[in-house]
Amino acid sequence: MAESLKNKVAIVVGASSGMGRATAALLAARGALVTAAARRGDRLEQLQQELETAGTPIAVQTADVTEEASVASLMESVLSREGRIDLVVYATGTNLPERSLEVLSPAGWSRLLETNLTGAFLCTRAVLPAMRAAGGGLIIYLSSAAVQMPDVSGVAYQASKHGLSGLAHGTRIEERSAGIRTCVIFPGLCDTEILHQRPVPTPTDVLARSLDPEDVAEAVAFVASLHPRAVVPELQLLPSQL
Ligand SMILES: NC(=O)c1ccc[n+]([C@@H]2O[C@H](COP(=O)([O-])OP(=O)(O)OC[C@H]3O[C@@H](n4cnc5c(N)ncnc54)[C@H](OP(=O)(O)O)[C@@H]3O)[C@@H](O)[C@H]2O)c1
Repeated sequence: MAESLKNKVAIVVGASSGMGRATAALLAARGALVTAAARRGDRLEQLQQELETAGTPIAVQTADVTEEASVASLMESVLSREGRIDLVVYATGTNLPERSLEVLSPAGWSRLLETNLTGAFLCTRAVLPAMRAAGGGLIIYLSSAAVQMPDVSGVAYQASKHGLSGLAHGTRIEERSAGIRTCVIFPGLCDTEILHQRPVPTPTDVLARSLDPEDVAEAVAFVASLHPRAVVPELQLLPSQL
């Protein structure tokens, strides 16, 4: 039987827009005790107000995953408020218009790796002690279907997303005796703000056939609802019409 999400303590990192925002809202609607984190505090407060009106209150905290102290403070404040952390969703990610090898700079490469991969490592490292102490936990990383289907999203973006697999699977194997599980979700095209970073706008007829952020949120909720004896190491979620 599926586990209830009710009263599960969840942190969604990268919850100010897109898939993370939708995930925070869905987990809260299913009864989880959600903390939504990202850099844009105004966006988080807007989400908090919307969900408060809907009768599903959440906590919010500004955090920058490129700063170790900021990540540590996020985990510590949730832990001191709730007493444990059951679920972390790493929905953080970015890309840049200067992504092709002709224009990608070392600084651009570093920025993408820092946000998309090192930030995930910092979150993982910061939450593991609490999960070990509690005897379990689940970390879900949002990657990209570009891992299975190489594309022109840029070598830095794709390298960062491949790196997430190493982080997730290595963590799962090292920490499974502590009851800790990981999952990497590989979404295909989804209509979110990250597409504003594309060098060429996405045609509207393609956008019309893309995933909704809510589709990804449902996939996260499915994985998080499984009994702890079961794990989904990888889940690919594609738009059926693209
Ligand atoms: N949309 C797609 O087609 C697609 C497809 C495959 C995979 N993905 C992946 O899905 C994930 C979610 O992206 P999305 O599509 O929902 O895009 P999005 O709407 O742009 O969301 C990205 C989130 O990451 C947060 N973020 C960025 N840098 C951060 C930092 N330094 N510290 C903390 N938070 C940070 C942003 O918040 P702030 O700016 O407020 O910090 C935002 O909440 C990303 O990993 C993306 O690569 C997207």
